[in-house]
Amino acid sequence: MRNTIAYYNAISETYDELYGDEQSDKFSALDLVYGGRVLDVGCGTSLLTRQLEAELVVGVDISMEMIQKGRASAVKYVVATAESLPFKNHAFDSIVSTTVLQDVANPKAALSEMVRVGKKTLVSVPSKSKLDLMGLAKTARIKLKEHFTVGKDRFYII
Ligand SMILES: C[S@@+](CC[C@H](N)C(=O)[O-])C[C@H]1O[C@@H](n2cnc3c(N)ncnc32)[C@H](O)[C@@H]1O
Repeated sequence: MRNTIAYYNAISETYDELYGDEQSDKFSALDLVYGGRVLDVGCGTSLLTRQLEAELVVGVDISMEMIQKGRASAVKYVVATAESLPFKNHAFDSIVSTTVLQDVANPKAALSEMVRVGKKTLVSVPSKSKLDLMGLAKTARIKLKEHFTVGKDRFYII
């Protein structure tokens, strides 16, 4: 995990320049995120969270530098790990997590945490990633309802 934090801290300055267009291509899938209370897990520089219109938007990330780089006034931020989200059960209406689980040390724990704190979850991983989200969800007894491709990611709804 320390390596991941160091990596994202180091690229925070150039992340939007390098990946802004690629990530923006994926955000049409956000129509699937309902309003209300929304949590963005692995929010990074808020490329996505900035576009969300909702009653409450909270961004969680392990990299303080990524958060600082993209901090938006309408968003509340928490530095925490996806595997241990500091929120009560079903505290959020929607959870969104784009291009994050491929970097997470324990993606099964992260998925379980998202299900615990949210009511509906939208996650994506790069299509080229070897992470078997369907298999993982099965072992965690989580039902992934749909998956589809937008931009360079595969999206799943829980
Ligand atoms: C590829 S970036 C995606 C950022 C953002 N979701 C987007 O779509 O632009 C991955 C982000 O996940 C964060 N991350 C990686 N592992 C994490 C973990 N275990 N818990 C929380 N955030 C994590 C990284 O710090 C980084 O900001």
